[in-house]
Amino acid sequence: MGYADLHCHWIASIDDGCRTPEAGVELLKGLFSLGFSTVVATPHMRPGMFDNDRAALERAFARMQPMLAAEGGLPQVHLSSEHYFDEQVYARLRAGEGVPYPSRPGAKARGVLVEMNPVAFPPQLARSFVELRRKGLFVVLAHPERYQPVWKDDGCLDPLLDAGARLLLDICAVVGKYGRAPQRAAEKLLEDEAYEAACSDAHKPEDLDDVARAIDRLTELVGDEERDRLLGAAPAAILEGI
Ligand SMILES: [Fe+2]
Repeated sequence: MGYADLHCHWIASIDDGCRTPEAGVELLKGLFSLGFSTVVATPHMRPGMFDNDRAALERAFARMQPMLAAEGGLPQVHLSSEHYFDEQVYARLRAGEGVPYPSRPGAKARGVLVEMNPVAFPPQLARSFVELRRKGLFVVLAHPERYQPVWKDDGCLDPLLDAGARLLLDICAVVGKYGRAPQRAAEKLLEDEAYEAACSDAHKPEDLDDVARAIDRLTELVGDEERDRLLGAAPAAILEGI
């Protein structure tokens, strides 16, 4: 089984990811050559910074399809989004206006990629996640290792895990791409076997070197079997839904 990347910004000109369609294709090719047979596009949905709603993301995804169809050596692609967890996006998710991961027919709940303010978690966060679960969505929490509350005490994740959230490692954290504190937090969460899955969060072809180094480093930290679970079986299961 190939790897499945649940978090990547390969769609051109829609957020801080790839600037051109050509760069998007180059990034997808590079990920394919690193072992990813599936790559989900997760452009930002962040009001005030990246004002993308579902319709805009669907249009941007569709615009890239003819170019992808003309190329060989690419992973299978899907569309989702990185939902910034503010009041507006939370309301959209509750109203069924988010872009969750695809799922198999009949799944009771679909995963939804969520990122948060890196400095402080919103109040009542676990309760919000439970509310989303009632709406048929389970939270896949992007890069928990980058949040300052986690650096201070990763016990702050416990209520979120109890509320059904799954933790998604940005593998580039393990090679220090975001600094020492996220790297340390990632190593600790890996040691605690707290991550459900891992992803690239790649934004441009220039990120591919870090992704390659990070896969090697992840292998050193957890071994072949756990690496393949984190990058293969576990993200594939999230794409099935529950
Ligand atoms: Fe991202």
